[in-house]
Amino acid sequence: MTRVLLFGRNGQVGGELVRQFEQRRPGRSNGEPARLQLPRDQPAYELTVLDRAACDLSDPDAVHAAIAQARPQVIVNAAAWTAVDRAETEQEACRRINADAPAAMAAAARDSGALLVHYSTDYVFDGRASVPYRESDPVGPLGAYGRSKLDGERAIAATGCAAVVLRTSWVYGMTGQNFLRTMLRLAGEREELGVVDDQQGSPTWSRSIARGTLHLLDRHAHDPASWAGISGLYHATASGSTTWFGFASAIFELAPGLARRPRLRPLTTADYPLPAPRPAWSVLDCGLLQARFGLVLPAWRDALSECLAAGTPNS
Ligand SMILES: NC(=O)c1ccc[n+]([C@@H]2O[C@H](COP(=O)([O-])OP(=O)(O)OC[C@H]3O[C@@H](n4cnc5c(N)ncnc54)[C@H](OP(=O)(O)O)[C@@H]3O)[C@@H](O)[C@H]2O)c1
Repeated sequence: MTRVLLFGRNGQVGGELVRQFEQRRPGRSNGEPARLQLPRDQPAYELTVLDRAACDLSDPDAVHAAIAQARPQVIVNAAAWTAVDRAETEQEACRRINADAPAAMAAAARDSGALLVHYSTDYVFDGRASVPYRESDPVGPLGAYGRSKLDGERAIAATGCAAVVLRTSWVYGMTGQNFLRTMLRLAGEREELGVVDDQQGSPTWSRSIARGTLHLLDRHAHDPASWAGISGLYHATASGSTTWFGFASAIFELAPGLARRPRLRPLTTADYPLPAPRPAWSVLDCGLLQARFGLVLPAWRDALSECLAAGTPNS
């Protein structure tokens, strides 16, 4: 049984991670049968989950205390400051969550011999490329959020702890604040919608990220000897890419039961100014993830279709 400590249980990815871990829960100690029949070689997890009330990540001492108390073998950090525009005016607060807290987790992981799994972002790149970014490509974040996430990546690497850092992009799901839910809400309110059509990226379902994370944990969490070999930075997004306009078009095409579908109008980034600049090209090459873990996240349209059909969790 591998002890896992999860930060960020109420986030898009954190919530899906809880579901994935729950599905691997063995029978309770009172002899109740397992809720799911697990393959014999699938390791089970003892999961401790923390939300902001249980551990405020703006306090590094609280992070150390939470880890000392849970004594995890694996730490999964799905918590982050994700308010990209607000980060521009609250840079220090954002930095504390996205750089200082992961640094504290990584130091604790190094000192206790735990594995850290952490998430980062496509916004570490400046978006001037035209082919998918590899992990080794030069970074150049355009805004405070991207800078804070990059600082987090670097702080983790600097500790030398065992860590798998997954850069993902354009995260959506049926819970939390995301583009999919905004589009579904606006469908009921607007006849016509303008959507940016000159930023290219890979919409990635939070559940695909959680499933991918468990794919690699199932293979490695129980085998500390393998952690040095897998430690590093990986791109982990849905396969394929589109623009926000293309994503919106697919949402309105695939969403079941919409009373009406707004007419979509393509916009340029200049038509829709926001406080934080976004990279025009956010597509990540996920070949290393495939080579190292045999893991390919589903194509973005397939995942969107499954997400829409699944509805809200537990529905
Ligand atoms: N969202 C995207 O489009 C996107 C794109 C690329 C990469 N990523 C990365 O993917 C990861 C998961 O993102 P997500 O979309 O699942 O994030 P999310 O839905 O915004 O959830 C973030 C979680 O972090 C928690 N949190 C924030 N500040 C905290 C604090 N001071 N103390 C404790 N917890 C705190 C939030 O708690 P509350 O619920 O209490 O607010 C929330 O549960 C992050 O590393 C993010 O940077 C996201």
